[in-house]
Amino acid sequence: MPHFLSAEDFSPRLVYALFRLAGELRARQEPPKLLSGRSVALLFGEPSTRTRLSFSLAAMRLGAEVLTLDERLTSRAKGETLADTLEVLALLGVDVAVVRTSEDVIRPPALSPSVVSAGSGTGEHPTQALLDAWTLYEAFGRLEGLRLLVLGDLRHSRVFGSHARLLPRLGVRITAAAPRAWLGREEDLPGVAERVALEDVSLEDLLASADAVLVLRPQWERHAHSAGSSASPTPVSYLERYGLTEARARALRPESRILHPGPVTWGVEIDPSLREDPRILVRRQVENGLYVRMAVLVAAGGNLGPCEGDRVAGEG
Ligand code: CP
Repeated sequence: MPHFLSAEDFSPRLVYALFRLAGELRARQEPPKLLSGRSVALLFGEPSTRTRLSFSLAAMRLGAEVLTLDERLTSRAKGETLADTLEVLALLGVDVAVVRTSEDVIRPPALSPSVVSAGSGTGEHPTQALLDAWTLYEAFGRLEGLRLLVLGDLRHSRVFGSHARLLPRLGVRITAAAPRAWLGREEDLPGVAERVALEDVSLEDLLASADAVLVLRPQWERHAHSAGSSASPTPVSYLERYGLTEARARALRPESRILHPGPVTWGVEIDPSLREDPRILVRRQVENGLYVRMAVLVAAGGNLGPCEGDRVAGEG
């Protein structure tokens, strides 16, 4: 069964198959039990609300047996490696493991369930990129040619790591903007069209030419572990200097959209007054996460055939 550890594990063809399946699953009152007889383990080593709950609900609604493991209460706390833990899960018959870890890269062992990343360190968060892509696709009816501004803590964001690996292959042009201290290394993510320090540009100009802006939360909890943090912005000054204020949001066109993967720290990276702005899609992103993760679990469980739409429509 396949692993989904990186956005690179989703080909454009697979992405659109997953979008179709997610849309069909959303349209159904009673989703087909495509994971009946399968077991899905959730192994979370970092806090999560939306990813953990949506994977959990997704697996249950598809009829899987669901095991939820708090990593602190597993033998990981005694020093067992993630790879050895995954092997134990495979030996016990787990079919799919959904893993959130502080490690930047997940390396499953030879004997392993299908592993789906739910976020790995500062590396990747592929299903977040996928659900954001679906949200954009819904909003604009296309991805090809869209201009997306990603604004915030690029250096520490695993969400950006996956957007940069997914969206350019779907035709989205990414401009990435951050305080200079948080720009990250250009060579790591070559798919990004343009990467600019906010000290050098007008954020209003960037916003005016974007179809959508995806705002990222400053990952304060990761800054202590990275070099050069003394030059970093602070929570007090962040919004006025670098964030999406109400005044800056006026530069966005009425038909543009605002996304944020969550959790949002209102008043730090984005003005609380934008919570009810008609252009904001944060709630839709959360809702879409459930259906996209249902589709990914179907694929991870080996149940996504070439005619998945026909098959899903014929079941249940
Ligand atoms: N976007 C995201 O991963 O949110 P959670 O940490 O709440 O899962």
